[in-house]
Amino acid sequence: MVSNILNKIGNTPLVPIGLSPMVRVFAKLEFYNPTGSVKDRAACYLLNRLLNEKIIDQDTTIIESSSGNFGVALSAYCKLFGLKFICVIDENTLPVNEMLIKLQGAEVIRITEPDQHGGFLLNRLKKVREIMDKTEKIYWANQYGNPLVAAAYYNSIGKELCLEAPRQEIDYVFLGVSSGGTITGVSQRIKHENPNTKVIAVDVLGSVIFGGGAKKRFIPGIGSSITPVILDSAKIDEVVYVSEAESIECCRELLAKYNLYAGGSSGSVYAAIKKYFSEKDIYEPVNVMCVFADSGERYITTIYNDTWYQKVAAYEAAHPVELPQLYTSSLKIS
Ligand SMILES: Cc1ncc(COP(=O)(O)O)c(C=O)c1O
Repeated sequence: MVSNILNKIGNTPLVPIGLSPMVRVFAKLEFYNPTGSVKDRAACYLLNRLLNEKIIDQDTTIIESSSGNFGVALSAYCKLFGLKFICVIDENTLPVNEMLIKLQGAEVIRITEPDQHGGFLLNRLKKVREIMDKTEKIYWANQYGNPLVAAAYYNSIGKELCLEAPRQEIDYVFLGVSSGGTITGVSQRIKHENPNTKVIAVDVLGSVIFGGGAKKRFIPGIGSSITPVILDSAKIDEVVYVSEAESIECCRELLAKYNLYAGGSSGSVYAAIKKYFSEKDIYEPVNVMCVFADSGERYITTIYNDTWYQKVAAYEAAHPVELPQLYTSSLKIS
């Protein structure tokens, strides 16, 4: 028995989804966390550290810009710890996530004006700064740059991936990137334990995280309109780009083949693994770990809706973007 379900973070299932006998893929199912995503790890760890180290107290307001999952997680843990929370979301935030954030007592501010990259992040961050300037005792969780967020992932999912890999051997780890905290903490831990593991970042076309042309994007939780500074301390070997249409198709394939009902970024990660190994010669079996950050359940009207899928695919076909100059099939980061 647990005293509160919110204390049951981590030790999420790791399931094999063998791509082939040579490419053994294991997916860490982060939707088994209490509020449904990997972000519980960061929200709970961050607030505990801030309260224990007296960086904040019960009178501090927490503020964050989130496309959804971190907002849902922070709203739950702020409520648990009795803290006021302001969440700045945007038009791509799923209605169900907005509802959950509000129901947990947070104040929600919704940005509807896109920024120059066709995303909403720059305007979300502008709003955060505006509120910070006029509010006393306010702490910005800042998943895009806060080392405590990377430390959360280093100490939890990073550790779990290293311990749970078959024979503790990880040849590759694939992670979707948005604010960059997950890949920063996980890559630091994995490279610490096993410097030979290749860390592969997964991004979507139209995201500017690693360079390349910007375009409007539709799937929350993958890609960004900025290069988050937290990534300066990430240890990434290569970046694989996938389209949003491919991501959606791969979500559906995960459900059809493996009974995994996963969110949009999980489809991106699976699409990237398929693409990467279809272009690579492998001479002995490799262990590939990956993170499926959230569940498909909240995406009924988007990822799993045919009309929405067709709209995204048509938009992508009509708006090709430039990839970063070094791009071949993947971008090597020296
Ligand atoms: C569903 C989903 N996948 C992946 C990520 C990427 O994680 P990070 O923001 O730590 O890069 C997020 C972040 O919001 C997410 O919501």
